[in-house]
Amino acid sequence: MDFVIQQICFDERVAALLKDGALPTDDLSPSSNVVFFGYSCDDELCGVVGLELYGSWALLRSLAVAPGHRNDGIGGKLLARAEDEAEKRGAREIYLLTTTAEAYFSRRGYTRVERASAPTAIAATRQFSDLCPSSSSFMVKKK
Ligand SMILES: CC(C)(COP(=O)(O)OP(=O)(O)OC[C@H]1O[C@@H](n2cnc3c(N)ncnc32)[C@H](O)[C@@H]1OP(=O)(O)O)[C@@H](O)C(=O)NCCC(=O)NCCS
Repeated sequence: MDFVIQQICFDERVAALLKDGALPTDDLSPSSNVVFFGYSCDDELCGVVGLELYGSWALLRSLAVAPGHRNDGIGGKLLARAEDEAEKRGAREIYLLTTTAEAYFSRRGYTRVERASAPTAIAATRQFSDLCPSSSSFMVKKK
């Protein structure tokens, strides 16, 4: 099956994938400060990932794969693409918050850290301060 990963804009297809994955969308709009990459197969958007970039730090968010396409490597490919982009743009530490996928990210090089260790720019994001519950795992991958 042909697939492509490319930068995309936030739209209703992205919102639908995030809602299917029970991920927050309240802080997202076409003009929000999030770079999205979409995985499309045969013109269908099957997965998405988002990056917020703050100099040496990045917040990885909104990794979601359509229920019918899970466990097929799509999440891993999107994660690798987002990590490459973050590094290309100067990020040396990639942070994320998750309530359901700590083990998934642990297997891909992320380590759980204390929320108190968050860089100021990451702590100021709505994901960190408002949208993700305080019980979320806060994780980092350093270059
Ligand atoms: C988490 C998610 C993005 C994974 O994407 P995917 O394309 O299905 O996963 P991949 O194909 O890259 O990896 C599959 C492997 O990860 C494991 N895995 C999938 N979801 C997992 C989770 N939530 N926790 C732990 N392991 C998970 C699978 O069991 C499989 O393991 P295996 O390689 O030993 O067989 C997808 O399940 C999803 O969209 N979940 C809902 C949204 C979400 O929780 N996003 C993450 C927080 S931002």
